[in-house]
Amino acid sequence: MEDIKKYIDTHRERFIEELFGLMRIPSVSAKEEHKPDMYAAAEYIKTKIVEAGADKAEVMTTEGHPVIYGEKIIDANLPTVMIYGHYDVQPAEPLELWTVTKAFEPIIKDEKIWGRGADDDKGQMFMQLKAFEFMCKTGKLPCNVKFMLEGEEEVGSVSLGKFCAQHKELLKADVILVSDTGMIAPDVPSVTVGLRGLCYMEVEVTGPNRDLHSGHYGGAVANPLNVLCKMISNLTDENGHITIDGFYDDVLEVSAAERAEMARAPFDLEKYKKSIDIGDIEGEKGYTTAERTGIRPALDVNGIWGGYIEPGAKTILPSTASAKISMRLVPNQNSEKIEKLFEAHFKKVAPKSVKVKVTSLHGGEAYVSPIDTIAYSAASAALEQTFGKKPIPTRGGGSIPVIALFEKVLGTKSILMGFGLESDAIHSPNENFPLFNFFKGIETIPWFYKYFAEGMKM
Ligand code: BES
Ligand code: MN
Ligand code: MN
Repeated sequence: MEDIKKYIDTHRERFIEELFGLMRIPSVSAKEEHKPDMYAAAEYIKTKIVEAGADKAEVMTTEGHPVIYGEKIIDANLPTVMIYGHYDVQPAEPLELWTVTKAFEPIIKDEKIWGRGADDDKGQMFMQLKAFEFMCKTGKLPCNVKFMLEGEEEVGSVSLGKFCAQHKELLKADVILVSDTGMIAPDVPSVTVGLRGLCYMEVEVTGPNRDLHSGHYGGAVANPLNVLCKMISNLTDENGHITIDGFYDDVLEVSAAERAEMARAPFDLEKYKKSIDIGDIEGEKGYTTAERTGIRPALDVNGIWGGYIEPGAKTILPSTASAKISMRLVPNQNSEKIEKLFEAHFKKVAPKSVKVKVTSLHGGEAYVSPIDTIAYSAASAALEQTFGKKPIPTRGGGSIPVIALFEKVLGTKSILMGFGLESDAIHSPNENFPLFNFFKGIETIPWFYKYFAEGMKM
C-alpha cells in the first residue's frame, strides 16, 4: 500500500490534467441551459471509471440529471464499498468576482487548484477515482467497488429517492464512502459524523394589483417589501430562536457528554472572524459556534427581491416581493413536516393587507453516523496512517440529502471522509482546493479499503 505515494508522484500531472478536463465542463445543475453539459460531464466520468479499471460503467437516466454507475466485482463473497460523489456544481455567479481565474478555466496557483468544483465535489470525487485507479492497476483491491455519482446534489437530489428505490439490488453495498465534506485543518484530520437536513422555501407577498405611485399611495397601502422584511425579521427572536410554531418539537438535544467532546475540536474565534471579515459572530443563545452549525437548526434568507433595483431612483410602492428562505435541520426533524409548519406560520402572521404564496423547492433529512462501526474504525486508521494522528469526529453544518436516503431506501450507512478546508470557498467565487489535500486524499483512500476489508473479515 505504501506504493501509493510513488504512484501519485509518477502520475500527478495526468491526474490534474484529467481533473481539469472535468472542471472545464460547466455542469451547473440549477440551470436548464446547462443540460447538455450535465450529459457531457457524465460521459467524461464514465470514461474515466472504465480507464481506471472498472468492469463496466454506464450513464443512467433519472427524472433529473443522469447518474453514473460503475462497478468492479472481484469476488461476490467479498464486501462491497460504494463510492458516492456528485459532478454537478453551484452556479458560478457573480462572475466578476472570480479574480484568480474564470470559474470554468481551472489553473494551479500558489499550490492550489482554482475553479468551480475544485473541491465541491469534482476535486474530491476525483481523489476517489484516482485511488481506485491505483488499487486496480496494482492489483491491490481487497473488496468489490461500486460507483454512484450523481448530478443533482446541489439542487436537492430530488430524483434520487426514486432512483435508489428502482435500483436497490444494483446499489447494494456494505458501506458508502463519500468525500464531499471537510476537515478541521490541513494537519487536523476529521471524519464527519453528522450532516444537517434542509428545508428550502420560496415566498411571494402580493399587495396592490400594480406598482403604485409612492406619493399617491405611500403611507396608506401596505408595501409588500416592507411587509416581507418584517415577516422575515420576526422569524427569529432576540435569542436567535426560530419562532415558527412547533419548529423545535422534534429537535434532539445532544447530551452534555457529546457537547464536551465536540468542544475539544480546536477553534480560534479571532481567526474565524478574520477569515470572513466580520466584526462579530451571532447566533442562538447558549451555544458555541461549532454547536450552532453542527447540532442546532438555522434559518437563512438566501435571496430577496422585488420593486425597483435598476440604477437611479424610481418612486413606487411595488406590487410584489419575494424571498428564498432555507432552514438547516437537525436529526429527528422531518423536512416535510417543517415545510408544512413554515407555510402555516407564514400564512398566519401575514397581515390582511397582503396575500402570500408559499412554495417548497426541496428538502432533505439530517444524518448522524455512528462511530462504533467497522467503517469508522477503517476511516480512522486510514487517516492516522497518512496524517500521523487520529481524526476528530465532527458534525458538519452542510447537507447531502442523499445520505439519509441511502440509509432509508437502501439500508446502507455512509462514511464521510472529506478533505476540504473552510478556506476552499465552496459555493463562492474563487473556489479552490490545495494540492496537498488533493494528493493526501488519494493517498489515504486506499488504506480505507484495506482496513475496511480486514475489519469485515473478523
Ligand atoms: N459538499 C456539500 C456539503 C458539505 C460541505 C457538507 C462541507 C459538509 C461540509 C454539498 O455539495 C452541498 O453544498 N450541499 C448543499 C445541499 C443542498 C443544496 C440540498 C448544501 O449544504 O447547501
Ligand atoms: Mn458537495
Ligand atoms: Mn455544494
